[in-house]
Amino acid sequence: MPEPSNGRFWLPSPPSNPELVAFLEMIEEAVLLVDPERDIHYANPAAGELAHRFATDPDDPDNPMPLLALVPDEVFSLAADERWAGEARDADTALVLAVRRYPWIIDGVAGHLLLLRDVTESRHRQDELRRRHTELQQTYARLAGAQEQLLQSEKMASIGQLAAGIAHEINNPIGYVHSNLVSLRDYTSGLLELIGAYEHALAPKLDEATLATIAGVRARIDFDFVSTDLPELINESREGLERVRRIVQDLKDFSHAGRDAGWRRVDIHKGLESTLNIVWNDLKYRARVERHLSALPLVECHPSEINQVFMNLLLNASHAIGERGTIVLASGHDEAQDEVWISIRDSGPGIAAEVLPRIFDPFFTTKPVGTGTGLGLSISYGIVKKHGGRIDVSNGAEGGAVFTVVLPVHQPVRVGSDNT
Ligand SMILES: Nc1ncnc2c1ncn2[C@@H]1O[C@H](COP(=O)(O)OP(=O)(O)OP(=O)(O)O)[C@@H](O)[C@H]1O
Ligand SMILES: [Mg+2]
Repeated sequence: MPEPSNGRFWLPSPPSNPELVAFLEMIEEAVLLVDPERDIHYANPAAGELAHRFATDPDDPDNPMPLLALVPDEVFSLAADERWAGEARDADTALVLAVRRYPWIIDGVAGHLLLLRDVTESRHRQDELRRRHTELQQTYARLAGAQEQLLQSEKMASIGQLAAGIAHEINNPIGYVHSNLVSLRDYTSGLLELIGAYEHALAPKLDEATLATIAGVRARIDFDFVSTDLPELINESREGLERVRRIVQDLKDFSHAGRDAGWRRVDIHKGLESTLNIVWNDLKYRARVERHLSALPLVECHPSEINQVFMNLLLNASHAIGERGTIVLASGHDEAQDEVWISIRDSGPGIAAEVLPRIFDPFFTTKPVGTGTGLGLSISYGIVKKHGGRIDVSNGAEGGAVFTVVLPVHQPVRVGSDNT
């Protein structure tokens, strides 16, 4: 093991040429002369400084031996006069290395001339640049996604407005068709009653031929069937119309979006039901819906936004269910905390532990590309947070995910009541 000479560099057998030594001491590159046994015969001051970075020996921080640990083994099997150039790296350090196995003997040593340049900083800068570049690319992708989402929500908003307009227009004719049907039902039953009375009064007084003609007409028009079917037809039409009226009302409630600029006190269950009707098409073939709802006070909120939260949670539940299952809606009122809660539980697979911490992240989705944007829960989170509430998530005891929306009944600044 060579000994340190003057504390700055190793000189067990330094080159004896003073000009060469002066030159080597001057340059910035680290220079090592190493024999095939990897004993260092000469290290210039730059090598000593570079060795500081490793400082494995506190009594001798300039000891350049650890530098050799970074040098690839193949370097030491170079043939005479062969060269090698490359980069040597560990986690903290990057060195550009040029090696030459010199064919002649300097001061009795035959071995390798190693030229090392510390490029750690520039490599770090390159790594940093690369990291930032990746970050920028990701941010760009997110921005593009957000723009897509904005366009989508703008489209939805105008569809919502259109729907609200159409709903309004449909409401009028529905109103008079509905009231006409009520009159029609009353008139029909009156007319049937009148026919019955005529029949009863006239039958004994009519001759055979007239009675036969009447019986013929009666059979032709299937009077007995018509007289029982007519009220049923009118009732069915009223029911159908009632359904149309409800759909229109749901559309109006739902597309209140953007129009309810202020806070209102509303019946949260009503919003939940109308949202359920809106997404019913998506749900009806897969999910049976159970309700365990308690009486709730009116809640101060932006109803359309809360409906949007319900919609996201209901759709997620429906998607989680897959083929066939159950969605359980429950609600409650915590008077002490002045809060209400609405929970939506599904019978899907639940949420995996590794996914759970990320579900509220924007753009996080486990759905196939093009299926989910991964924005549903992050938007819902933002809405509920704005309301001073929270969304709790857990996996139910019987499996499936449970999302519980907790909302304060009152907002810090009180508003007027409106339960329309
Ligand atoms: N009820 C649930 N059961 C199981 N996993 C769920 C449930 N709800 C949400 N998740 C998980 O959370 C992820 C994020 O949900 P989020 O609603 O934010 O986005 P998405 O449903 O994937 O897409 P988007 O709602 O934008 O169409 C889902 O991809 C899914 O992995
Ligand atoms: Mg979703």
